[in-house]
Amino acid sequence: MGVKAIAVLAGDGIGPEVMREAVKVASAVAARFHRSVTFTEGLVGGAAFEEFGEHLPKETITLCTGSDAVLFGSVGGPIEQAHLPKWRGCEANSILSLRRSLSLAANLRPTRIFPQLVEGSPLKNSRVDTGVDLIIVRELLGDVYFGEKSSWTSEGRRYARDVGTYTDEQISTVVRVAFETARSRRGKVTSVDKANVLQTSKLWREVVHEIHAEYQDVELEDMLVDNCALQLVLDPGRFDVVVTSNLFGDILSDLASALPGSLGLSPSASLGASGIGLYEPSGGSAPDIAGKGIANPIAQILSTAMMFRLSFGWQAEANAIERAVESALTEGCRTFDLATRADTPVSTEEMGNRIVERLP
Ligand code: IPM
Ligand code: MG
Repeated sequence: MGVKAIAVLAGDGIGPEVMREAVKVASAVAARFHRSVTFTEGLVGGAAFEEFGEHLPKETITLCTGSDAVLFGSVGGPIEQAHLPKWRGCEANSILSLRRSLSLAANLRPTRIFPQLVEGSPLKNSRVDTGVDLIIVRELLGDVYFGEKSSWTSEGRRYARDVGTYTDEQISTVVRVAFETARSRRGKVTSVDKANVLQTSKLWREVVHEIHAEYQDVELEDMLVDNCALQLVLDPGRFDVVVTSNLFGDILSDLASALPGSLGLSPSASLGASGIGLYEPSGGSAPDIAGKGIANPIAQILSTAMMFRLSFGWQAEANAIERAVESALTEGCRTFDLATRADTPVSTEEMGNRIVERLP
């Protein structure tokens, strides 16, 4: 019980405008269910660089470690400005250090094709009309992301090296999250690796099967990562929970988040040993549409539902948000990214308001 403290890091681009709607919806739900939440804003990304000269200032880390959960927007600037100090290394500096500071070992990225939006999927309807509802559980603190990195020149040749390492413990931690997640869903885990080539993948597969002994009620299959990319396009409806290593998860989750037809629909959660979860949309800062009031706030709003459910254990509150989003879609409410020629698109703010109106 008690008050839940939420750190709000809106970041750059469309971050602040979609965050405004997410905080609006989350506050409305909290009020209706008599829950106490506080929202405290912190700076991250280019917005933080302007003020502190760094993308993830100490002040922001302290705010996060002192909170119960972090609501993250997005960071990064326009491609044409990528060379400026404000944007150089911005995404990696902001999010990778935050993952490490909060020990966020497991990243949950659900992808659903909403029945109301099947027409918007880039896949043929015959491939998706049986329903697509999958979740990628990605390891977030190992692999080439956090291994030794170096580059050097020798005898006129330039070399670069990224070392990818996994321990059995890192693997079992995220694999348990996947099995637990499958138990609350359709009971199937697909473990994705490249065990025909990589040592880390061989260990991955070994550990997955050891842990599976504790979860005999869950169905397990192994799949090579190249085949998984193929299957995600040919038959995404076959997947329930996909668990994989950091780099594979990065790539496959982008592929998966394209399936619903807009990047503005997919939320995500990052969880770990600190107990402080971080929740963010899968999409980026989209500087090209920032400040126009046309961004889709749904991914950010659904991220607050994940926060309520996974960090606070507030099932009914999370369900209320998800149902309100669906009912707004059912009633034809579409932001610009979702609108077909027949629709009159609504603004970011209007979408937020319509979702609040549909809360129980
Ligand atoms: C993601 C992003 C990050 C990642 C980048 C910005 C470092 O692509 O969250 O998927 O690769 O993890
Ligand atoms: Mg990525």
